[in-house]
Amino acid sequence: MTAAIAVGIPDRPSFAAPPPLALYIHIPWCIRKCPYCDFNSHEARGEAPEAEYVDALLADLESALPSIWNRRIVSIFVGGGTPSLFSAAAIDRLLAGVRARVPLIPGAEVTLEANPGTFERQKFADFRSAGVNRLSLGVQSFAPEQLAALGRVHDADEARAAAEAALAIFGNVNLDLMYALPRQTVAEAEADATAAIAFAPPHLSFYQLTLEPNTLFHRHPPPLPDPDAAADIEDAVHTLLNAAGYRHYETSAFARPGRECRHNLNYWQFGDYLGIGAGAHSKLSFPDRVVRQVRYKQPKQYLERVAAGSPLMENADVSRADIGFEFMLNALRLEAGVPAALFAERTGYPLLLVRDALAAAEARGLIERDPTVIRPTPLGRRFQNDLQALFLREEQPA
Ligand SMILES: C[S@@+](CC[C@H](N)C(=O)[O-])C[C@H]1O[C@@H](n2cnc3c(N)ncnc32)[C@H](O)[C@@H]1O
Ligand code: SF4
Repeated sequence: MTAAIAVGIPDRPSFAAPPPLALYIHIPWCIRKCPYCDFNSHEARGEAPEAEYVDALLADLESALPSIWNRRIVSIFVGGGTPSLFSAAAIDRLLAGVRARVPLIPGAEVTLEANPGTFERQKFADFRSAGVNRLSLGVQSFAPEQLAALGRVHDADEARAAAEAALAIFGNVNLDLMYALPRQTVAEAEADATAAIAFAPPHLSFYQLTLEPNTLFHRHPPPLPDPDAAADIEDAVHTLLNAAGYRHYETSAFARPGRECRHNLNYWQFGDYLGIGAGAHSKLSFPDRVVRQVRYKQPKQYLERVAAGSPLMENADVSRADIGFEFMLNALRLEAGVPAALFAERTGYPLLLVRDALAAAEARGLIERDPTVIRPTPLGRRFQNDLQALFLREEQPA
């Protein structure tokens, strides 16, 4: 369903102050490509060109400085791919280079994604010394047969050893797991959740395994649980996490109170982010426009373009017709919803822009609304796509 835009809404956004700004850094290589994964990640045949890539990232950041002039970075997320494939010396040079070019807020969260197949205790300790203060570890499952079915490069013992070391060294740790895995039963998923909870990490992410286009699993689907079985698995996992004191604060994210991922919260609260590296996405707000950027995806092409000083990205303004939907696409993932005032603060338009869609969502029982908060109901969380679709708009012809 689409709706026209109410009269009296300005045709450009305006910001009293820019939204908080986060920095995302993409490292596009992995030891091996997992058969379910559609991230911009490439098998590193031989050594990844880490020195050249760190140089390119810093040149990329340097060229982006005019677009973030005078702004401080609230969090950094080094994601991939498998950033832990890089040496600690490379990550140290990268983070030092970032700090030399942009100011970070005191105590900024600095997360690095790691794969247990790249785990070495000393390397984790050196990442910590380089300024990484949060580690996100891709465990996926603790069941040996599932790790094999998922084509992971690590076994269950390596996953456990990496989780243990990550907690000892960083304390601030996220474990990524997936559920509704090939032939998985409720009891098996519960065993995975119980094993993850036993490490007592402050943050856990549980993603339902999805078959993404352009992956091996999409071409040759494994026997996944049917939708009813997947819903039973999800309910069982959520019950265990809830009982263990984790708050289900976003669709796939669980945290102890106060330990939510600040970097991801900034996305969901429609903050700004600069993404550097191959295929990285950015959203940046300027006084009267909001811009999205996507950098060239192929690592080789990205490196060549940086070396040649060629443009690294494509840019597009976010239109008035799209911005309400984009805000809600993020905000309605949050269990607690968002303050109503955040809409104007982060989109640059009055809440009136989405008045009709909010009324429709409320009438269908998909959101709760008081004057200060917009929050999805349990029904709205269950039918998130239908809820978000209510915010798709069309510009009225002139
Ligand atoms: C970029 S990866 C994280 C770190 C590292 N590359 C690894 O896999 O160990 C981000 C997370 O997305 C999740 N993920 C990737 N592909 C998925 C899919 N098709 N369905 C559900 N979750 C997926 C996995 O849990 C993965 O850990
Ligand atoms: S290691 Fe992570 S990023 Fe790399 S292919 Fe596997 S899931 Fe994707």
